[in-house]
Amino acid sequence: MSQKSSNEMWGGRFASGPDAIMEEINASIDFDKRLYREDIQGSKAHAEMLGARGIISAEDAARIVEGLEQIEGEIESGSFTFSRQLEDIHMNVESRLAELIGPAAGRLHTARSRNDQVALDFRLHVRAALQTLEAKLTDFLAALLDKAEAHAETVMPGFTHLQVAQPVTFGHHCLAYVEMAARDRSRCRDALRRLDECPLGAAALAGTGFAIDRHMVAEALGFSTPTRNSLDTVSDRDFALEFLSLAAISATHLSRLAEEIVIWSTPQFGFVRLSDAFSTGSSIMPQKRNPDAAELVRAKPGRINGALISLLTVMKGLPLTYSKDMQEDKQQVFDAIDSLSLALAAATGMIRDLQVNAEAMRKAAGHGYSTATDLADYLVRELGLPFREAHHVTGRAVSLAEGSGLGLEELPLDVLKSLDGRIGEGVYAVLGVDASVRSRTSFGGTAPDNVRQQVAYWRQRLASE
Ligand code: ARG
Repeated sequence: MSQKSSNEMWGGRFASGPDAIMEEINASIDFDKRLYREDIQGSKAHAEMLGARGIISAEDAARIVEGLEQIEGEIESGSFTFSRQLEDIHMNVESRLAELIGPAAGRLHTARSRNDQVALDFRLHVRAALQTLEAKLTDFLAALLDKAEAHAETVMPGFTHLQVAQPVTFGHHCLAYVEMAARDRSRCRDALRRLDECPLGAAALAGTGFAIDRHMVAEALGFSTPTRNSLDTVSDRDFALEFLSLAAISATHLSRLAEEIVIWSTPQFGFVRLSDAFSTGSSIMPQKRNPDAAELVRAKPGRINGALISLLTVMKGLPLTYSKDMQEDKQQVFDAIDSLSLALAAATGMIRDLQVNAEAMRKAAGHGYSTATDLADYLVRELGLPFREAHHVTGRAVSLAEGSGLGLEELPLDVLKSLDGRIGEGVYAVLGVDASVRSRTSFGGTAPDNVRQQVAYWRQRLASE
């Protein structure tokens, strides 16, 4: 047992201080110092309300607010000394406040508990993270839309099973990621809407007998309303779970794009080239250009999915209300915020940076009889064959082409006629990759005109939201 004196904040009934291991497992200051701004913001709003309601004197309220502002300056300038003995950010700030303003500092915690305080601080932090994420997703969307517009007509192979399936446009492919990122962005907004309730005033768990004004505090902190149930308030971490869920989904999208960039930038594909700004060399193989940034973006779901599972597991089965288990909610969320933020910035940078090799894409688009479906459609449209029979005839054409090492568009007309005598010269117009993509004008299809319309649609929607 250590000889240290008991905790200055809550040690009234304790004869001696904590064991060194107790202090080490209990202290959260090493990571929750990241919440200092939110902690001070919340304390200021609380003190002002206490003063306005006459629960503390106006002078004490003013002194508290002034002291808190000085502490914020000290933390920001790096002169503040954090102490593990004071456990967490809440008590580090309050203890320094006592040094600065004397006994009035002791009045700040009236009608409040660290339970509602931490619920507030963490919620404010997640709210800011969601707002930043929304802005970063908007940048990412803008980068994708610029690429989509520039490549509305650039033909590339569309894949299923990573086998060449049908020609598509690169612009349309970029727009697929626009859809994903726009859903991620709308998930941020949904989460912000549900998070928009202020926890402060729930106190330890049961509310308080002081005549506080929770609406005033909520408004000062930019929330629409206070939370309605004090028990739920101090035990709820849904806002963090929602953040992690949407972060995991968003990171999944980014990892799919990253994987495509890795594949596309191999010499075998050669569809895109990342500039030196987004490539790395090998320390032993001078010829290498490695897409490290893309690989790291591809890897980020490892951490972010881990954070989601970690917090779900911490919260599972916890009885109401607060338990110290919940202190384990922060590190993984902080890491997820930083990981996703970096992944998104790197993905945006790579999209802006990447140079498309339209020639290589176009060539690959014709490989693997990618216009076979167009031939089948021609047989349906021009000759009135049922689709299943057209599919069969086309299959024979593919097999003839394969046997003679030719592309479909290279098969002589008499060979095609041997399959069905009614096939005419017009067939060659549908066998090229450009004609193929131009024909896909159904809503949501890959035709260049569709791509341009979708780019315009998204630009307008993003500007008006
Ligand atoms: N550091 C604590 C946390 O992060 C603050 C709340 C402490 N509450 C308590 N009843 N011990 O959860």
